[in-house]
Amino acid sequence: MAVTRTFSIIKPDATRRNLTGAVTKMLEEAGLRVVASKRIQMSREQAEGFYAVHKERPFFGELVDFMISGPVVVQVLEGENAMQANRDIMGATNPKDADAGTIRGELAESIEANTVHGSDSDENAAIEIAYFFDDAEIVG
Ligand code: CMP
Repeated sequence: MAVTRTFSIIKPDATRRNLTGAVTKMLEEAGLRVVASKRIQMSREQAEGFYAVHKERPFFGELVDFMISGPVVVQVLEGENAMQANRDIMGATNPKDADAGTIRGELAESIEANTVHGSDSDENAAIEIAYFFDDAEIVG
């Protein structure tokens, strides 16, 4: 297996509950290394662009409103097959379906306030990393 990078967002429900460290600890214990991290307030335009793939979905407006409702922490994670490792520790999108021991299983409030976002493919990881980070900000 190769060492790769993926993209993560610690969402506003987690920053509101002061869970940035708790989430990061679970990522690190899953073998992922945080090689870039910044706390930002996303603009509406930034959130709409990031989630453009979902713009026809009925929940798009609520998703964007939620993602700009407070600060988020955007991160680049590195590790063996980082995309899959991150998805495994995140758990299912809906916390009702997420296994115990996963971030969403332990910490998420709802399908919308589900604590973390993670890229769903290596291709999307590269796109999502570039959306928020310059190469110089990523230090492995
Ligand atoms: P995320 O991985 O950030 O990608 C898109 C997000 O849309 C997803 O996590 C969920 O938080 C959110 N989402 C997916 N399905 C629904 C839904 N039915 N209602 C509200 N939000 C949803």
